[in-house]
Amino acid sequence: MAVYLYNNEEIKKIAQSCQITANILDEIELIIDEGITTKDIDSEARKLCSKYGVKPAFLGYQGYPAAICTSINEVVVHGIPAKRKLLNGDIVGIDFGVYSEGYYGDSARTYIIGKVDDKIKQLVEVTKTSLYKGIKKAVAGNRISDISNEIEEYVKQFGFVPVRNFTGHGIGENLHEEPSVPNYGKPGKGPRIQDGMVFAIEPMINTGTYKVDVLADDWTAVTKDGGFSAHFEHTIAIIDGKAEILTKGKNFC
Ligand code: MF3
Ligand code: CO
Repeated sequence: MAVYLYNNEEIKKIAQSCQITANILDEIELIIDEGITTKDIDSEARKLCSKYGVKPAFLGYQGYPAAICTSINEVVVHGIPAKRKLLNGDIVGIDFGVYSEGYYGDSARTYIIGKVDDKIKQLVEVTKTSLYKGIKKAVAGNRISDISNEIEEYVKQFGFVPVRNFTGHGIGENLHEEPSVPNYGKPGKGPRIQDGMVFAIEPMINTGTYKVDVLADDWTAVTKDGGFSAHFEHTIAIIDGKAEILTKGKNFC
C-alpha cells in the first residue's frame, strides 16, 4: 500500500482539524482533576465538539462508543469513559481526534493526578520526550523505522518498554492510513519520509512487559503484568523536508 502524499491545500485543512483537536484538548485539560469521572470528561469533549462545530473522530469508529479514550494506569490505550473517578496517584491518557471538513486530526496526552511514585512520573516524562525524539527523526530522507528505533532506544535507557501491538499511523482523509509508525524496531526500514506525508506518532510506553491484553469490551488494552503505561501523540506533516507539529496546544507543543 502506497503512502498518500498531501498537497499544501490539503495539509492546510488537516492542520485546521488538528488545531481544533489541540484547542479542545486544551479545554478538556482544565477539568481534569481528582474526583472527576472519565464519563464527565467525555461529556465535556462532546460539548466542546458541538461548540466548535466538529465531529468527534472516534465516536462510532469501528463501533467505538465514546468521543475520547481515557486510559488509566495499566490501561495502555482505548480505555472507554465510565463512572470511574480519577484518584490521587493515577495517570490518565486522554486520546482525542476530530473530523472537520473532510479531514482528521488526532492527539493524546497523559496527565498525572495528584502525587505519583517517582518511577511513574519518570515514565510519563520519558514517554513525552520520546515523542519529540521521534519527531526529530521525521525528516525527508529518513525511513519510518528511524523514528521507531529512536523511540525504543530512548525509553530503553530508563528500563521502559514500547508497546508493540499498537502503532502510529498515517492520517488525513482517514483516521488511520499508511504508513504504520511502530514505536520499536530496527532503523532503516519502512517507507522513506518525504514532503506531503502526514502521520501521527504515538509512543505507548510500559514500565514492565510490552505485552497487552484486550478486555472483554473489545477495546480496553491493558498491560499483561499490570505495570503502568503512558501515551502521547502528535499529528505531524512533512513540509520542506521537516516535521511540522499540527496538534500543538498551550502546554503540549
Ligand atoms: N489515537 C488512537 C488511534 O489512533 C485512537 C483511536 S480510538 C478509536 O488508534 F476508537 F478511534 F479507535
Ligand atoms: Co492515533
